[in-house]
Amino acid sequence: MQADLHLGDTVTLSSDELQAAAKQHLWMHFTRMSSYSKGDVPVIVRGSGPYVYDDKGKRYLDGLAGLFVSMVGHGRTELAEAASKQASELAYFPLWSYAHPSAVQLAARLAELAPGDLNRVFFTTSGSEAVESAWKLAKAYFKRTGEYTRYKVLSREYAYHGTSMGALAVCGLSAIKHDFEPLPPGGIRVPNTNFYRAPEFVADDETKFGVWAADEIERAILREDAESVAAVFLEPVQNSGGCFTPPPGYFQRVREICDRYGVLLVSDEVICAFGRLGYYFGAERYGYQPDIITFAKGVTSGYSPLGGMIVRDELMEPFLNGSATFLHGITFAGHPVSSAVALANLDVFERDNLLGNVRSNEDGFRATMEKLNDLPIVGNIRGAGYFYGIELVKDKNTKETFNDDESERLLRGFLSSALFDAGLVCRADDRGDPVIQLAPPLICTQEHFDEIERILRSVLTEAWSKL
Ligand SMILES: Cc1ncc(COP(=O)(O)O)c(C=O)c1O
Repeated sequence: MQADLHLGDTVTLSSDELQAAAKQHLWMHFTRMSSYSKGDVPVIVRGSGPYVYDDKGKRYLDGLAGLFVSMVGHGRTELAEAASKQASELAYFPLWSYAHPSAVQLAARLAELAPGDLNRVFFTTSGSEAVESAWKLAKAYFKRTGEYTRYKVLSREYAYHGTSMGALAVCGLSAIKHDFEPLPPGGIRVPNTNFYRAPEFVADDETKFGVWAADEIERAILREDAESVAAVFLEPVQNSGGCFTPPPGYFQRVREICDRYGVLLVSDEVICAFGRLGYYFGAERYGYQPDIITFAKGVTSGYSPLGGMIVRDELMEPFLNGSATFLHGITFAGHPVSSAVALANLDVFERDNLLGNVRSNEDGFRATMEKLNDLPIVGNIRGAGYFYGIELVKDKNTKETFNDDESERLLRGFLSSALFDAGLVCRADDRGDPVIQLAPPLICTQEHFDEIERILRSVLTEAWSKL
């Protein structure tokens, strides 16, 4: 406890006091804490629509929907009211042997929205727990059905699937794993669908590239021994690395491969579900049937935390009879308040036709971002719906990327703070090649795309002059 700070009443803390307390007591996630030894910690205090405001009253366009979360935008009082009503009625009860109406209703509504026979919902509180749960279910399912040797999971290079030990083992980002190894065994990597950096022999044709990338999954299954592989985890559009969209026919081919070898297809839609791609689920947009969908983030637009997995009837069957039990659970999963908020969130989606808004404006979003193609630092602009990545390069013609040192200076040393200072929340990410990522709230329209473009143009132009 710090003697010099009076923290009893948070509402009355001044900006200076907030800074001091944040620096002394708050451990920010995936954050180099040393970067705040001199500069200020950005403190966001409120939001309205697609904008957020810091403790000094400055406004920012939330070009990342917080962290791919705030689908309906900020300051929606009807979601706050749904939370308040539920908390007054029943703030908490577990889903361990009991049910409560908001979780039941939400499970039924998600089953209705999800494609095919994805009818059973297992709630969690986060995306990592959803991924963890999907892997555990895959292992447990195969044990119940007599395929005792299946436990491995395939996922793509650079893919991010969460931070708990199991989810981390599913990730394709070696840099975030080293500190925590050894991880659970069985995480196997396959190529991602970054067509901009496709191997030369398939670089002339995206469909051919997609066939190759899907067939790499088959080759990995065979190499590992098909009977040891439980599941493949894929995002509809891969976030990490910068919005890798699936080539035409990719998911159909992956589905066929999974069926051929009895491997489950998990669509990790923690980012892509709930309108990010103009559909409730990314699998719908790309026309494939997953065995499991994992979700979180946008299901409540962040007004309360919630995640989960939606699974096919068949996967539930072994757990429906006798003493069979899926021995897995989380105290706060399907929390009544979060479930009520999710229902209210889905009401807003329908009432305000948010999917329609994304579908009718996504071409405008793309066209506006593509204006940036005239900048020498912009190598590739890719994505779908309201989800775009802008890859930055040193040489547009050769696609030469930045070395570690340049990347460090460019992204961490300049871009991240310059974009924020210019009034845009987005993400400058170098987990793969350096990219700027955009995922604005689904309420955004052309005026917001123009604002994003204006800020990016000015900051990227300055970045280039500093190289
Ligand atoms: C595809 C994907 N899966 C899983 C996760 C983990 O979700 P959470 O941070 O809620 O644990 C994320 C987080 O960004 C994600 O993007």
